[in-house]
Amino acid sequence: MIILGIESSCDETGVGIVRLSADGRVEELANVVASSMEQHARFGGVVPEIASRAHLEAMVPVMREALDRAGIERPDAVAATVGPGLAGALLVGASAAKGYAAGWDVPFYGVNHLGGHVAVANLEGAPLPHSVALLVSGGHTQLLEVEAVGRPMKELGSTLDDAAGEAYDKVARLLGLGYPGGPVIDRLASRGNPKAIAFPRGLTKRTDEERGHRHDFSFSGLKTAVARYVEAAEREGRVISVEDVCASFQEAVCDVLTMKAVRACKDVGATVLLLGGGVAANSRLRELAGQRCAEAGIELRVPSFPLCTDNGLMIATVAAQLIHEGAQPSGLSAGTDPSLEVEVPLI
Ligand code: KG4
Ligand code: ZN
Repeated sequence: MIILGIESSCDETGVGIVRLSADGRVEELANVVASSMEQHARFGGVVPEIASRAHLEAMVPVMREALDRAGIERPDAVAATVGPGLAGALLVGASAAKGYAAGWDVPFYGVNHLGGHVAVANLEGAPLPHSVALLVSGGHTQLLEVEAVGRPMKELGSTLDDAAGEAYDKVARLLGLGYPGGPVIDRLASRGNPKAIAFPRGLTKRTDEERGHRHDFSFSGLKTAVARYVEAAEREGRVISVEDVCASFQEAVCDVLTMKAVRACKDVGATVLLLGGGVAANSRLRELAGQRCAEAGIELRVPSFPLCTDNGLMIATVAAQLIHEGAQPSGLSAGTDPSLEVEVPLI
């Protein structure tokens, strides 16, 4: 059975195609992604309306290329992200998916984007056991408890304000480093001293824990602290080391992310930590997560970069797992939900 997945929740238009074998094995046939990132660069972040229009323009060419690469004319089922994500962007992808499903006369499955991020683990390794997933991108920062791919997940915690990638993008903007901020800060940080400036670690105090934020994140205080540091230096006529600011900022982000992720694994008794999202490309995050997982006897799984960022293959993969388990199609009247809960794998 061949399953096609469409992703359009943020700024990537993706179409992925997989083959599902009778024994439940899932194999990649195509994965084509177009990104509207450059169109958002001058705004310093994703502009929802621009993203929606870009999805509309990219959908047909991306679909054609994916079908060509897979060497098929039509799949046996079409899946699409129905949430969480940007309202307009979700509508474009889900509407296109339903249109293709109706035109090809095949069933439509509306799936959860976050379940897709977790599902890619099965494409590159053994089926994911009971794990914790740390999903970090420009749009999300979450700690999820995962029973297995395709099962309802449990949100252990999330960011109360900025997403981790958003914090990178905002700090890069205030340092005049351009957009997206993650890759350039990562590069500059490697030449700086991570201990040069003691930036705050959000939500790590005992009082935060008492208020129920053990597994939550907050990056807006850190972003403000970087801004204050730069402003003070300018006011006093001091020259700052951009490398040291980047390294110290990055250390604060990665320290909290990895400390909380490993602690969450211990809390729920998970033996695997899975990373996902664009920030999973970060060299320090990978290094520190590797060290801390090794110390705690936890296996760290990091999908290859094209599978960490948003793509259609992750949607096809999670749909394949659900179909294998006998899930019923969503039907063409199924809607989209920008704030879809993680407990809902399929609408
Ligand atoms: O998953 P993604 O491509 O798109 C969504 O946000 O949905 O993630 C993009 C985010 C951006 O905020 C970008 O700055 C960040 O991932 N990013 C990084 C790195 N590469 C990309 N952040 C830190 N270090 C990196 N090397
Ligand atoms: Zn995503």
